[in-house]
Amino acid sequence: MTHPPARPVTIEPSTGLHGRIRVPGDKSISHRSLMLSALAVGESRVEGLLEGEDVLATAAAMRAMGAQIERGEDGVWRIHGVGVGGLLQPAQALDMGNSGTSTRLLMGLVASHPITATFAGDASLSGRPMARVIDPLSTMGADITASPGGKLPLMVRGMCPAIPIEYTLPVASAQVKSAILLAALNTPGITRVIEPVPTRDHSERMLAGFGANLTVEATTRGRVISLHGEAGLKPQSIVVPGDPSSAAFWLVAASIVPGSDIVVENVGLNPTRAGLIAVSRLMGADITELNPRDVGGEPVADLRVRHAALTGIEVPHDIAPSMIDEYPVLFVAAAFAQGRTIARGAHELRVKESDRIAAMRDALEANGVACEEHDDGLTIDGSGGEAIPGGGRVASKLDHRIAMSMAVAGLHAAKPVSIDDAGPVATSYPAFFDQLAQLCRGVR
Ligand code: S3P
Repeated sequence: MTHPPARPVTIEPSTGLHGRIRVPGDKSISHRSLMLSALAVGESRVEGLLEGEDVLATAAAMRAMGAQIERGEDGVWRIHGVGVGGLLQPAQALDMGNSGTSTRLLMGLVASHPITATFAGDASLSGRPMARVIDPLSTMGADITASPGGKLPLMVRGMCPAIPIEYTLPVASAQVKSAILLAALNTPGITRVIEPVPTRDHSERMLAGFGANLTVEATTRGRVISLHGEAGLKPQSIVVPGDPSSAAFWLVAASIVPGSDIVVENVGLNPTRAGLIAVSRLMGADITELNPRDVGGEPVADLRVRHAALTGIEVPHDIAPSMIDEYPVLFVAAAFAQGRTIARGAHELRVKESDRIAAMRDALEANGVACEEHDDGLTIDGSGGEAIPGGGRVASKLDHRIAMSMAVAGLHAAKPVSIDDAGPVATSYPAFFDQLAQLCRGVR
């Protein structure tokens, strides 16, 4: 896969963030909205879909497998599904771009259909481990041929009927859980996934909403999710709540830049995603929930965030799955805290869009922040609220969250922070730099 030319960005310090912004739709829910709608019989409507490159890769793949997917001029997406079991053989390789969620969940869908699909992606995605989904999907009968090391490009030959399994997740991964549950939709009998450590539960909530035959029990072994396959899905009208992982950048930005006072509207507060808010509060962040409501079966609120003096903490390990995508920006918050922050217990950061532990250590050190790298996280000595030295160049490593996190760090730095390539931001948050400019001056 070829990459577009790099998009360098320089961030100037800000004198304070002010105003209101609305975060885009949740990425995890957006992917699942398209996939489940594409398997329902009839027309589903999706409002507030995240129109980022990752989700558009899922839309293109579902079209390639027979679903009709259109965006109306009103911004509402209308999807005519093919029915569970009705996916068609794609004519070409599926281009997954940078998106691990598209890849792993769609591998699950293909695994129990009588079709073959090839998955390919960019350099970042092609370096990420797929064995975690290859193993359970192969046990269900799919025939998967991967590149060396269980990487992309890879080919999935689905098995129909597939074999139901009981599978205990060896890594806390919502993507692996979801891949198995999606495969289970077209598999006779009961497939069970046991998660010893809870991960984001959007798949379970949405599958139940679409009428799948699914139960979730809390047991001593963990959460046991049982899905009775080969039942139809009913089309839905979905409103996608705002993405807490996108809101996280503004929560930290307003907390660290003196004088800031902002409202971030439409933030999803599903407890399996809300770890950063809890950890920021432990560090002393000033976050108030306004107008709590329910959007599409998920808790949502607007968040008022004011500048606050942050204090370093030891981040509790068990919170990691509920803020796994927020560690890069948590490291930035830590860089401005009083004292030391120890954020460990997050090995998974090594296999995200980049190795986020190494990438953030390099980026922070290049900008004068003292860090110590561990196999599972970072220890960071904060500035006590002062501007960090800045002046460094950040390698974003094809990782949207590295680029956005370091853009936030640059808002309170003595010298401008430059980012070699902000292009990957388009995968999850195309409006990020426009909204940054709206909230403060300082982007060149
Ligand atoms: C996601 C799950 C998480 C997360 C990713 C999206 C999902 O990955 O990092 O950005 O939508 O299921 P893992 O489940 O692999 O931890």
